[in-house]
Amino acid sequence: MVHQEAAKEVVPLMTPYKMGQFQLSHRVVLAPLTRCRSYGNVPQPHAALYYAQRATKGGLLIAEATGVSTTAQGYPETPGIWTPEQVEAWKPIVDAVHRKGGIFFCQIWHVGRVSTNELQSGGLAPISSTDRQISPDPESWTVYSKPRRLGTEEIRGVVDDFRRAARNAIEAGFDGVEIHGAHGYLLEQFMKDSSNDRTDEYGGSLENRCRFAVEVIDAVVGEVGAHRVGIRLSPFVDYMDCVDSDPVALGNYMIQQLNRHEGFVYCHMVEPRMAIVDGRRQIPHRLLPFRKAFNGTFIAAGGYDREEGNKVVAEGYADLVAYGRLFLANPDLPRRFELGAPLNKYDRSTFYIQDPVVGYTDYPFLEDDSNSKESGTQA
Ligand SMILES: Cc1cc2nc3c(=O)[nH]c(=O)nc-3n(C[C@H](O)[C@H](O)[C@H](O)COP(=O)(O)O)c2cc1C
Repeated sequence: MVHQEAAKEVVPLMTPYKMGQFQLSHRVVLAPLTRCRSYGNVPQPHAALYYAQRATKGGLLIAEATGVSTTAQGYPETPGIWTPEQVEAWKPIVDAVHRKGGIFFCQIWHVGRVSTNELQSGGLAPISSTDRQISPDPESWTVYSKPRRLGTEEIRGVVDDFRRAARNAIEAGFDGVEIHGAHGYLLEQFMKDSSNDRTDEYGGSLENRCRFAVEVIDAVVGEVGAHRVGIRLSPFVDYMDCVDSDPVALGNYMIQQLNRHEGFVYCHMVEPRMAIVDGRRQIPHRLLPFRKAFNGTFIAAGGYDREEGNKVVAEGYADLVAYGRLFLANPDLPRRFELGAPLNKYDRSTFYIQDPVVGYTDYPFLEDDSNSKESGTQA
């Protein structure tokens, strides 16, 4: 007998997957997205609605980059997780996601030199691996300040900030943490040779440049357990003047370091910038060697749509695919992918504004999904 289901299209993105101890019902992950709506670095009640809208039973959400200390901020109104007040403020947000059956990781972050004196308490210089400033970009809204090179003996304190942030995230109820080791922020400022000009044991060789990131990984794993830790890396990306002359060696070295920790949950990697091939934008798909070398779950991100996501999951290039802009604009993205439904367009002008609703919780759900907006019963 032929069941009706047999005729249904198999959507690889919508197939279940076991990520460590977490049973996921599909492969569509919310990428971490800074939204600049956490006034005074404290997450706000409107974030509970925003994340709950995007939560599904067995779906993985990664929270926006969340500062580990007072020196960690580089953008206005970004959340933190270093004070008891911040931990308390995260709790109802995490609860809202859990009530819908979602799995929620907190991305823990230090911007390093991607900051300004104005954003630092006491008007101090931002900290970094180097005292070299990011070259001012005429198209950018910000000129980042000249940083202060961290002294060797100060680095242990920053590692401890990550450790405390991880512990706080678990206390707030998060299922795990994602260490932000990507996009030119502090960890990458140490890792990549364009931004690390140190002569101590944190500079020079690849091993030395990765030492700080590895110490953070070890500290966070020691604090909350490898089964609750993932990391985001972007060896090929060149944001914020952070470029490495040998991204493949860098990625491979970091994967080896992750593999030392049995059960390390996931490695989340960002594709290089989209390449233009025959006039069409194409994802470069350079991550396969890392995916093959890594023992845990591999998440790919950067420019994916439904078709590309299905393809990489079907081919085994990635276990999960993280979606940024599409998930931002489509709170019910997994459902739309399941149905092959049309997508809302994202509005770039509202990405980073401070409005608690506009461009945040007001993107429409599929019209036929009558009960998803507040109570959310979709699978
Ligand atoms: C508004 C916005 C905020 C972002 N914030 C973060 C962030 O906090 N942490 C991070 O690792 N990446 C951040 N990213 C990068 C995204 O996670 C993602 O890698 C990027 O948007 C590419 O994926 P996409 O093509 O699916 O949008 C941000 C991107 C956007 C558009």
